[in-house]
Amino acid sequence: MRRNESLRALVRETSVQVTDLIYPIFVREEATEPEPILSMPGQFRWPLSKVAEVAKEVSALGIPAILIFGLPAEKDDMASSAYDANGIVQHAIREAKEAAPNLIVMTDVCVCAYVPHGHCGVLNGHEVDNDATLPLLAKMAVSHAQAGADVVAPSSMMDAQVGALRSALNQEGFKDVAVMAYSAKFSSAFYGPFREAADSAPSFGDRASYQHDYANARHARRELLQDVEEGADILMVKPGLAYLDIVLRARELSDLPIAAYAVSGEYSMIKAAAERGWLDERKIVLETLTAFRRAGADLIITYHAKEAANWLNNN
Ligand code: PBG
Repeated sequence: MRRNESLRALVRETSVQVTDLIYPIFVREEATEPEPILSMPGQFRWPLSKVAEVAKEVSALGIPAILIFGLPAEKDDMASSAYDANGIVQHAIREAKEAAPNLIVMTDVCVCAYVPHGHCGVLNGHEVDNDATLPLLAKMAVSHAQAGADVVAPSSMMDAQVGALRSALNQEGFKDVAVMAYSAKFSSAFYGPFREAADSAPSFGDRASYQHDYANARHARRELLQDVEEGADILMVKPGLAYLDIVLRARELSDLPIAAYAVSGEYSMIKAAAERGWLDERKIVLETLTAFRRAGADLIITYHAKEAANWLNNN
């Protein structure tokens, strides 16, 4: 049955479609032109003035969704710019929605880019205060919803973040805004390039006290189940490639849509090798995307989305 491509196509079990992809973008309040992210060739910190163009381009490729990360001009200990109606992400949501009404706009909900110390929650001394952070995340999600976001994605890894967002959204009349939960987000060196991109590296310590220990799969199962209980609409596993076993577990655990996030470090590794001519970028990307789908992911968040869409569209 492997004799020729027609036979192989006939018995192929898994496929990747452009409609499975989500494209993450960075929008920087102080940018006046696209700023290349050096560790992520091909990715930029966009000025607000370019968001409409990006949204149209992504939408025209058939990619159904973007995931917005903001870099605010001002940071403070209460992350005020994260839930300001005039914040950078709130503006970006409106621009994207206006330019491409059918494009699904998802937003990252975490304070790390909005506080001077770069941790994902507010601090009490040198400790992240889980419960004091929840109301801020809830306000942030509601303000994204007010600006027109379709899906909010809490990534701060505070316990009970999904429930906090769900009840705040419901109370404010946003029952239809969905929550994509970073349910199994591991404390990972694969986020290195992102922290340059989003200017969100912690100024002391690391994120190990709130992100998951990458040695633990049973713990990830517990957190996935917890997010189902709290009302998640999509469960996410992150990083992606090194965590396909977790994607498979998530798939077996729940009938909710499962998303895998091919994070910054995964993108950078492929780009770096491809630039040297050591790997065939197109083949590697299509193989890895297929692997995510084979492991059980319905959706794939990837910085390669636009290139992959071109490759898939012209197959
Ligand atoms: C914010 C956040 C991070 C990523 C997504 N949301 C950084 C982190 O947790 O340190 C990483 C995404 C990537 O590496 O592509 N908390």
